[in-house]
Amino acid sequence: MKADVLLGLQWGDEGKGKIVDVLTPQYDIVARFQGGPNAGHTIEFENKKFILHTIPSGIFNPDTINVIGNGVIIDPFIFKKEINNLRTHNIKIDNNLLISEKAHLILPTHRLLDAAYEAEKGEAKIGSTLKGIGPTYTDKTSRNGLRIGNINRHDFQKAYNELKEKHLRILSSYDFDYKNNQIEGLSLEEYEAQWFDALKTINQIQHINSEYFINQSLDSGKSLLAEGAQGTMLDIDFGTYPYVTSSNTVTAGVCTGLGIPPTKVGEVFGIFKAYCTRVGSGPFPTELDNAEGQMLRDEGNEYGSTTGRPRRCGWLDLTALRYSIMLNGVTGLFMTKADVFNKFETIKVGIKYRKKSEQIDFVPFEASYEKLIPVFDEIKGWNSDISHVTDAGKMPDALDSYINYIQSKTGVPIKMVSVGADRKQVIKL
Ligand code: GDP
Ligand code: IMO
Ligand code: MG
Repeated sequence: MKADVLLGLQWGDEGKGKIVDVLTPQYDIVARFQGGPNAGHTIEFENKKFILHTIPSGIFNPDTINVIGNGVIIDPFIFKKEINNLRTHNIKIDNNLLISEKAHLILPTHRLLDAAYEAEKGEAKIGSTLKGIGPTYTDKTSRNGLRIGNINRHDFQKAYNELKEKHLRILSSYDFDYKNNQIEGLSLEEYEAQWFDALKTINQIQHINSEYFINQSLDSGKSLLAEGAQGTMLDIDFGTYPYVTSSNTVTAGVCTGLGIPPTKVGEVFGIFKAYCTRVGSGPFPTELDNAEGQMLRDEGNEYGSTTGRPRRCGWLDLTALRYSIMLNGVTGLFMTKADVFNKFETIKVGIKYRKKSEQIDFVPFEASYEKLIPVFDEIKGWNSDISHVTDAGKMPDALDSYINYIQSKTGVPIKMVSVGADRKQVIKL
């Protein structure tokens, strides 16, 4: 079998968790391939709501194996909280969750470094989730990191101490009071104690060589869905650098983050919101800094799943969407949060950018630095409640037209439209 991929085409929070949960019954394995607890993936069913940060969104189907791949980075403290929450709700996690022994660990001092780097940047800060993502991937790339497989080796404490000391030396060169900086409301010493305690939870979960497990599973006919975190416009190479995350969020990340060869990648499902949001700093050409933007925020409840920050809102940006489709090789689209437009009489879509006197229909290098002025198409809204529609035949004509419009502009079919947060609120096309 080939591995299918599901990932975000915008700036994250496209509703990946919800859609993975909807698709999970079709898959034997769901695997996260990059990112860490900067992710917040929301799943709602039976009036319950879960937000996952590290654990794949396939966990609510007891028959599916969930793998945290080598490309993911893990904070044991956050991981333990996730596990405990699932256990409280009687969600099965004993034999259906596996962790790659090659996944890297986020140390408490990685989080302090994240805070110090952000403070140093001042106005130019990235708006990081402060989960230690950048510093942990930096240590991975500079070959200083610690991995899950190191935890039970005899020299773990020594390796931990050495890396911590290195971090403290870096921190002491910053004009940043790291000694009084709290992590999740705790001092470094308190957080560290809980972090070490949480390694016991990590040890309750089976550590595996995930590249062998995954390739052997695919070869024996098992199906796999790779679950992306963040979104394509936050990719370290192709996003709006430097306002990006520190991993490859695109399809290529599946190959390095799970050990799946490119020849074994099957369908690529791209998730996008019917509009756009972004949390944190950085360019966002179609952003609405006005009452319409506030209406999107209110109707879409656009507040971060991980940090609670209000998300910046704006119209759909087709230039960025086509760029993401190109980079990922998207074979099928999933549009989420269509219901957020219920009260809109007209919907706008950014189709090009104006750069000085010329119009361009690609994402230029300058996208990271200069304001690109979007050129809009205007489309009639459905202006009615679609949150109970689950039958494609019962969609209002205006929604049908919006879907057709996007399909014709991207050349990719929309396979499903999501009209609410609950797993049942989907229209299959
Ligand atoms: P992810 O990071 O891509 O998994 O997305 P998040 O969970 O961070 O953010 C998506 C938010 O929208 C969550 O609160 C979801 O419960 C919610 N959501 C997902 N799909 C829909 C939808 O179709 N309509 C509405 N109104 N909310 C949705
Ligand atoms: P999910 O998986 C939205 C953003 C941060 C910041 C930038 C860098 O839920 O879609 P980092 O903590 O990675 O150093 O932050 O990336 N960011 C996200 N925005 N959804 C996410 O994940 C994000 N993960 C990181 O807000 O702008
Ligand atoms: Mg999210």
